[in-house]
Amino acid sequence: MSERAPFLNKTYGAYYHREQPAPDEELTRVGPGTPCGEYLRRFWQPVAVAEELGELPRRIRILGEDLVVFRSRSGEVGLLELHCPHRGTSLEFGLIEEQGIRCCYHAWLFGVDGRILEMPGHEDSTLKDRLCHGAYPVHEYAGLVFAYMGPPEKQPPFPILDTFELPGYRMAVRPPSIWKCNWLQVKENSMDPAHLAYLHTLPGSEGFTEDFRALPEWDWMETPLGMVYIDTRRNGERVWVRTADFILPNIHQFPPNAAPMAARNSITRPDATVWAVPLDDTHTMQIGYYRAPEGREPRRGAGFGQDDSRSYEERQRVPGDHDAQVSIHNGLSRHGLEHLTAIDRGIIMMRSMIRNGVRAVSGNMELDYPTLRDDGPIPTYCHDQMVPGYPMAETPEDDRKLLRTVAHDAVARAVREGLAA
Ligand code: FES
Ligand SMILES: [Fe+2]
Repeated sequence: MSERAPFLNKTYGAYYHREQPAPDEELTRVGPGTPCGEYLRRFWQPVAVAEELGELPRRIRILGEDLVVFRSRSGEVGLLELHCPHRGTSLEFGLIEEQGIRCCYHAWLFGVDGRILEMPGHEDSTLKDRLCHGAYPVHEYAGLVFAYMGPPEKQPPFPILDTFELPGYRMAVRPPSIWKCNWLQVKENSMDPAHLAYLHTLPGSEGFTEDFRALPEWDWMETPLGMVYIDTRRNGERVWVRTADFILPNIHQFPPNAAPMAARNSITRPDATVWAVPLDDTHTMQIGYYRAPEGREPRRGAGFGQDDSRSYEERQRVPGDHDAQVSIHNGLSRHGLEHLTAIDRGIIMMRSMIRNGVRAVSGNMELDYPTLRDDGPIPTYCHDQMVPGYPMAETPEDDRKLLRTVAHDAVARAVREGLAA
């Protein structure tokens, strides 16, 4: 764990504060053989958009590994080590064929499972039957290609979250966006409801309703999958409860933020399911699904402030999620420089859950997560609901307590009994 910078209690004291504590190696390093990298490799991760696999192979980097992903002419998806096992030419320049991909240099042909199918000019050699090229198993689901990059004997079934097949909802791919920062600081944002009330209500911000200006109460709760935040506001005599999931190790789901109050009379399930897939220690791909109730279009594009497509000046004037998160300590958070407060309770809980998982894998213990079991659609808890029948309490202090209790009970019930669509 990183050591702490000194607590600076002098004005004009930057001189005493120049040393940079190290990043938290245990949670931020994702390459092969690192504790967190091995932990993340125990889960299916989305690595590409199925539709983008066309006539040409795609070079990608996932968890610090250079890979090529392609769809053979017969329709199977392959995810192979980027460099040809002959002399290392990149298969991004390979030729896609019926059975797999052929290296451009000396024409070795590889199947999607890594088998070497042909070595032209070496018909008498048995090498092709003895050697394999590195391949990872893939699974296509609802427009995304997922990969399992962990030890083969630990491969879990592909997890189906209840939100993947919600009756009455439509799901669309959330196009990937690449952020130049470590995965953890991206994921931490999902358990930071406080920023909704500040960053997202800056004048000029888009995508949130006025309702977000009401003073919220925040709380966090463990769930079988990880945890949720509970973001609670008063709306007349109703209590508006918004709950977002953090699903270990790197998925989050958030409820709608742009639907008007009038639409919030029943339970609404999440607008989005998003993975933060580390490409390496300082690049992260946000990718996943958007959804909307039947009759409404799921969101398109990444959304306001969700990438670096606006000019630097615009981003300085009205920063978005991308700017707030990527800029944390130049892309690799130094926890020893932070001063966490009560609004960061979710961040602390989340780090400790991830750390427990990382240590379980490092210690050769089994991970017991619902997403690793094979027992049907996995209940998740993200939703938005209005709880009627709670007029304002006598004092603001009592009212805050009331909001927290009502919200806590509503979410505890949802976790206990599950959510109807
Ligand atoms: S380098 Fe690929 S076949 Fe020779
Ligand atoms: Fe945000």
